[in-house]
Amino acid sequence: MQLTTLIALALPALAGLASGQGASGSGQTTRYWDCCKPSCGWSAKTNSGKLIGTCSKNDQPLNDNGATASACDNGGSAYMCSNQSPWAVNDTVSYGWAAVRINGQTETTWCCACYELTFTSGPVSGKKMVVQASNTGGDLGNNHFDLAIPGGGVGLFNACTNQYGAPSSGWGAQYGGISSRAECDGFPEALKDGCYWRFDWFGGADNPGVSFKQVACPAAIVAKSGCQRSNDAIDETPTQD
Ligand SMILES: *[C@@H]1O[C@H](CO)[C@@H](O)[C@H](O)[C@H]1NC(C)=O
Repeated sequence: MQLTTLIALALPALAGLASGQGASGSGQTTRYWDCCKPSCGWSAKTNSGKLIGTCSKNDQPLNDNGATASACDNGGSAYMCSNQSPWAVNDTVSYGWAAVRINGQTETTWCCACYELTFTSGPVSGKKMVVQASNTGGDLGNNHFDLAIPGGGVGLFNACTNQYGAPSSGWGAQYGGISSRAECDGFPEALKDGCYWRFDWFGGADNPGVSFKQVACPAAIVAKSGCQRSNDAIDETPTQD
């Protein structure tokens, strides 16, 4: 093969890498909702300098450019915003957020990037969910999407007791959370819809497998989180909310 041909073939691949696009593969999911300030809001970890939105204890946007420490750090008072809960766009597509770890990448590559997950097991098999990376976790494996779902279990950290008066290890089990739809009835108003989503659209699925690919973030997600990467074309396809 001539060198020029090789370069011509390699350029699109390099452009794909440079733009951060192209992460894809198969992966695993878990679920959590710890009420903590997500790590993509701690400081700018995106190439646009934008941070994921974070909220006060009263669930009001902080707009503090990341200055307020996490409620899961000593004395911090920044929390996860309730509007970073999952919702059904229609019967086959949902939008939401996740703590992410992508094989071979770092937070500065995945923070605020969006991934289209196609569920490959359980009652949601074949359905799709587009998630924006808002966080990561020390206990995540490779190609792991820890879906942010109210009532999904607090996991390693817990600010829900402080923010909402949840039981000392969060609602339900520390890992996995509550186990029935009816338990959502007692949730704070702002978290109810996201809690019900798990038992309705998600069919009560328990950590389904996924195939995933990076996609442009839907405008509806960016509108809620306030975060996008500078090279990320926005998908303006209108959706009902
Ligand atoms: C569901 O919404 C997605 C995202 O807007 C859209 O691409 C898809 O066509 C919709 N599906 C149906 C069945 O309406």
